[in-house]
Amino acid sequence: MTRIVHVNGEWLPEGEAKVSVFDRGFLMADGVYEVTSVLGGRLIDFPGHMARLARSLAELEMAAPCSDASLLALHREIIARNDLVDGMIYLQVTRGAPPDRDFAYPPAGTPPTLVMFTQSKPGLADSPLAKKGMSVISIPDLRWGRRDIKTVQLLYPSMGKMMAKAAGADDAWMVQDGVVTEGTSNNAYIVKGNRIVTRHLGTEILSGITRAAVLRMATEAQMVVEERAFTLEEVASADEAFITSASMFVMPVVALDGAAIGAGTPGPVVARLREIYLDEMRKAAI
Ligand code: PDD
Repeated sequence: MTRIVHVNGEWLPEGEAKVSVFDRGFLMADGVYEVTSVLGGRLIDFPGHMARLARSLAELEMAAPCSDASLLALHREIIARNDLVDGMIYLQVTRGAPPDRDFAYPPAGTPPTLVMFTQSKPGLADSPLAKKGMSVISIPDLRWGRRDIKTVQLLYPSMGKMMAKAAGADDAWMVQDGVVTEGTSNNAYIVKGNRIVTRHLGTEILSGITRAAVLRMATEAQMVVEERAFTLEEVASADEAFITSASMFVMPVVALDGAAIGAGTPGPVVARLREIYLDEMRKAAI
């Protein structure tokens, strides 16, 4: 099926949509993005994603493409135009296309580039991986120092996913100064008894929208949340482990570097968190 995508105010079949070769997203990775999931045709945690987009733009002194109300209208329209039931909406904003390549930012008033497209994933919330669990490898975290900004510089995460694939694993967890930062495109957690441990926020990781919701729900469910760095040794001795992201929700991790974590199968704490998260988010979807 040919998707209808959005580019700077226009709706076009995907093959006809075009962006300038001088676009700073293309030449400088000077752009930010959001991925919002859709279940049953409705947006999951939309306000959270728009709040983070606004923050990413502000940190880079980049103009917002339009108001939050317009962004909501665009998200709803792209769902309708593509008959999207389950899947994701990808949104990217770049600093626009100046007349030539230049390291300096273009003058204020250069219009940002806004691109949106859908990714249809029927049955997204019923992924077989949730029953099987994922395997991860550990790799050094070689990304830049402002990972709290959701930029489109995704080369190292792509390399990490390729390293995982070459090792026969599903993904990679990144390690810096002896502690886990996060997954290549998700936040990382371990479970020990009634405690959930995940890296504290800072410039070293992305502040996941799913992370915020899951930590709130875990606290409400009387689990103890510890926001601190953890080591690979702690992963090896954990009862359970998992990741969170907009596209994977809460996903069990059952092996690290070829060794089983806990029982080596998805455990009860992660299964419960996944269920609570999906239930609550479906109810609150807009
Ligand atoms: N990735 N950490 C990193 C490095 C990420 O790229 C992501 C999201 C997350 C989780 O954030 P959230 O819960 O807001 O999705 C954490 C998206 C899904 C992606 O790049 O496709």
